[in-house]
Amino acid sequence: MVLSTSPSEKTLAELYARALEAASRAYAPYSRFRVGAALLLEDGTVQTGVNVENRSYGLTNCAERSAIYAAVSAANRSFVALAVSTPDADYPVSPCGACRQVISEFMKADAPVVFGPDASRLVHTTVSALYPYDALHELANSR
Ligand code: THU
Repeated sequence: MVLSTSPSEKTLAELYARALEAASRAYAPYSRFRVGAALLLEDGTVQTGVNVENRSYGLTNCAERSAIYAAVSAANRSFVALAVSTPDADYPVSPCGACRQVISEFMKADAPVVFGPDASRLVHTTVSALYPYDALHELANSR
């Protein structure tokens, strides 16, 4: 399925549905907290990712970073929106600090981010709201 690259509410809802579906593929035997992420690429396609845990807990990779690393590995670096689904929570769980840093490396400050436990309880925000005062884009622009 190819989604529009100017993310409307409908596009973001479809992107969230992809994140929710991805969450079913999470590898989370230790926390039992499944997370799915869906990245909308500039070409309208979607890259999903899941959290991948490890018995050495600190090696866990969050869903958001899994999606971004998979996309970059497939030669895609332009992302226009991100959806994160946490179906095992009963309230919206936002991306962790490490993921916010990685998200900010690849996404524009005004790019939309939606997250929530289900489609009826989504928080709509942006990269810059999650990660304010980020110097990366200024540094990148000055190169
Ligand atoms: N987790 C994510 O994958 N993304 C988030 O935004 C929140 C936390 C994962 C890490 C770990 O596998 C589990 O959720 C519990 O923290």
